[in-house]
Amino acid sequence: MEVPLSRPDISWEDKQAVLAVLDTPFLALGPHLQRFEEAVAGYVGARFGVAVNSGTSALHLLVRAFGIGEGDEVITTPFSFIASSNCILYERARPVFVDVEAETGNIDPDLIESAITPRTKAILPVDAFGQPARLDVIRAIAERHGLVVIEDACESLGSEYKGKKCGSPAYAHAAAFAFYPNKQITTGEGGMIVTDDPEVARLCRSMRNQGRGESGIWLSHERLGYNYRMDELSAALGLAQMRRIEEIVAKRERVAAMYAERLSRVPGIRIPRVAPEVTRMSWFVYVIRVEDGVDRDAVMDYLIKNGVQCRPYFTPIHLQPFYRALFGYKEGDFPVTERLGRSSIAIPFHNNLTREEIEYVAQKLEEAVTRQ
Ligand SMILES: Cc1ncc(COP(=O)(O)O)c(C=O)c1O
Repeated sequence: MEVPLSRPDISWEDKQAVLAVLDTPFLALGPHLQRFEEAVAGYVGARFGVAVNSGTSALHLLVRAFGIGEGDEVITTPFSFIASSNCILYERARPVFVDVEAETGNIDPDLIESAITPRTKAILPVDAFGQPARLDVIRAIAERHGLVVIEDACESLGSEYKGKKCGSPAYAHAAAFAFYPNKQITTGEGGMIVTDDPEVARLCRSMRNQGRGESGIWLSHERLGYNYRMDELSAALGLAQMRRIEEIVAKRERVAAMYAERLSRVPGIRIPRVAPEVTRMSWFVYVIRVEDGVDRDAVMDYLIKNGVQCRPYFTPIHLQPFYRALFGYKEGDFPVTERLGRSSIAIPFHNNLTREEIEYVAQKLEEAVTRQ
């Protein structure tokens, strides 16, 4: 059996929505863009949504919109996808890593305050694998120190923390979502900024569109901008997917529950735990951990040989070659992150994973662990 790591879930209605765009004169900057923005912003309870062409673009524009630049510091997590930290480097600011909590893999709020310096401008938490960071505590720290919270919610569309959605302005001054094909909803490539701050929304709208002003006059540029626009085909797909976001989150919950039930009987591995403050978990990926004494890489080799796709997830950012070269990071700098990085495996996960596929993955995992 071959079990892919991920697979997009595109319905007949999704396809019709994209095809219909091709019959209109608007393939870019048309009506779907705004409707998709309103759908996502409304869903998370934010006033504004600004759609862009990737989650990375969304994060980059936020760093710029909050005026973070050379010499500034942003506190963030090394246990993430590299974009959450690269977006800070793009503006020649410095990502200041603090280690994560062992249970959730999310930034440890207890370590944040001692990392704050006079140069700190923002805290950039990441909701790893869909699980919200401790967003209320992080916001309170930010308020005490006059900092901005930029939430990297690229993996957590639909998750809720203490009854409020990830990306909610209750927690973050602004947040970024991503819609790559393995995400909860996809637009092919795509991302979105959500915020209650009209100035941040205005700046991001301008910067995604070559720095044009609100009038949109084509050859009038008010500031440095980019082409980070989302096209209409992508926006139509995103809008169609947002119509069934509840069904999508529920399907993923069901797959995660089937895994939890089956894998809790497999020795040598630990299934992911969701913190009690998380009132709804919107699963992005399903990441298990091997226990001490189990050779993670050997387990992965065995899975791959048997057709089960898997990935080490995440490889810590500070140990990436160019971060080591730029900042001199080394093993031992962020021990909890590194322990998670050494022991984690993302196993196949998507909306429509079947019970048979889950059984097969579980069997192969069992064999991989017991044959060591
Ligand atoms: C935590 C995190 N941040 C940022 C991104 C960047 O999103 P994109 O790949 O759409 O640029 C991703 C997506 O892969 C992510 O998982």
